[in-house]
Amino acid sequence: MKFQAPKGVSEYFPDRSIAFETVRRELIKPAKLAGYKLLELPIFEDTELFTRGVGESTDVVSKEMYTFEDRGGRSITLRPEGTAGVMRAVIEHGLDRGQLPVKVWYSGPYFRAERPQAGRYRQFYQVGIEAIGLDDPAIDAEVIAIASAGYQNLGLRKFRLDITSLGDAASRSAHRKDLVVFIAKLDLDEATRERVKLNPLRIFDDKRAPIIAMMVNAPLLIDYLTKESAAHFAKVKEYLDVLGIAYTLNPRMVRGLDYYTGTAFEFVHELLGAQSGIGGGGRYDGLMESIGGQNLSGIGFGLGIDRTLLACEAEGIDLTKTSRPDLFVIPLGENAKSFAIKLIDGLRKGGAIVDCAYGDRALKGAMKGADKSGAKYALVIGDSELSSGVGELKNMETGVAASVTLSTINSALLK
Ligand code: HAM
Repeated sequence: MKFQAPKGVSEYFPDRSIAFETVRRELIKPAKLAGYKLLELPIFEDTELFTRGVGESTDVVSKEMYTFEDRGGRSITLRPEGTAGVMRAVIEHGLDRGQLPVKVWYSGPYFRAERPQAGRYRQFYQVGIEAIGLDDPAIDAEVIAIASAGYQNLGLRKFRLDITSLGDAASRSAHRKDLVVFIAKLDLDEATRERVKLNPLRIFDDKRAPIIAMMVNAPLLIDYLTKESAAHFAKVKEYLDVLGIAYTLNPRMVRGLDYYTGTAFEFVHELLGAQSGIGGGGRYDGLMESIGGQNLSGIGFGLGIDRTLLACEAEGIDLTKTSRPDLFVIPLGENAKSFAIKLIDGLRKGGAIVDCAYGDRALKGAMKGADKSGAKYALVIGDSELSSGVGELKNMETGVAASVTLSTINSALLK
């Protein structure tokens, strides 16, 4: 019996896992600098949290949830996204009763039973943040700027930021009236009609060419914004300008989750083909109340770690370098080995990345190991090095060797 991973999951193993870890770390870093704190949550929740929070008109809830009955007969779902769970935890633990905004970040696996393809997985990874309890447009700009800084930390260039506003409830209901009338005149199949009954905005998300053509003259939500919503959105754009963050207005953008209100955004990478959304988010001013909390506003994002890694690879950015060993030590003989493990221990405690040729290999094979490890330097320790206290530190890139006193090798490495 040969086992395989379940269909469509993403897995990372060396050296790509090093790049994965780097992407995750760099995407989180700007959130920490802005005062967001870790929230570590379960990967399964009550199914109803998602049907109510994310919305039944979405593909995510209607087609893609991993739902099962647990041993106590409860309906459980593997989290398809992070925001609903964050809201549940904030309400349950009363975080919203303290200082506002509540600013949290999170990271981990998410599950959607989508049709697998490049960049679209059934288990994938996100880094996310949420800022809850403030509707100041400056916080919208902060959230967008944090995502943008993460991508920039990684050296990504070929991406753009799409933004729009989905307005407040009054904006959406005014637009909905006209949109429903417009849609009623279209020649749609039964399934599509059923879908747009739940949420007519979903039709903007339809990727089929005839539907896109039919929607060319459809009324756009951005033209129905109330004065307050328009003013909020104008401020968000103004702050993005202040921050020097370029954006493209995309009034046809529909996010795949139903809780969005007001500012919505997506980061799109040019080289990724069909699955080009490397991250997205927006405001969700009614979400907390809809799952039994107080009526607080919120905004956040989820950045796809898998797709961001693919984007880095597409741009030729090498993220594996940082964890290359500084030194690879090759001990020859038992006395040398004993000396080497002590030396290595000290170097590691001093912060150097050091590996060793274990297994008592002969010099030639051990040198190959040093080469494969990608180490910057190699050091052979045999009987003569032990007695003299001096070794040859070989620069693996240039092949040049220099004598070092073994007792001061740490400072030599630093140089
Ligand atoms: P989302 O747009 O559904 O938003 O997902 C965010 C990101 O997760 C996407 O841009 C994409 O990079 C990645 N992603 C989604 N599905 C997959 C998949 N099947 N395979 C690989 N990557 C995927 C949310 O999840 C919201 N919770 C974001 C948010 C937070 N909005 C407000 N706060």
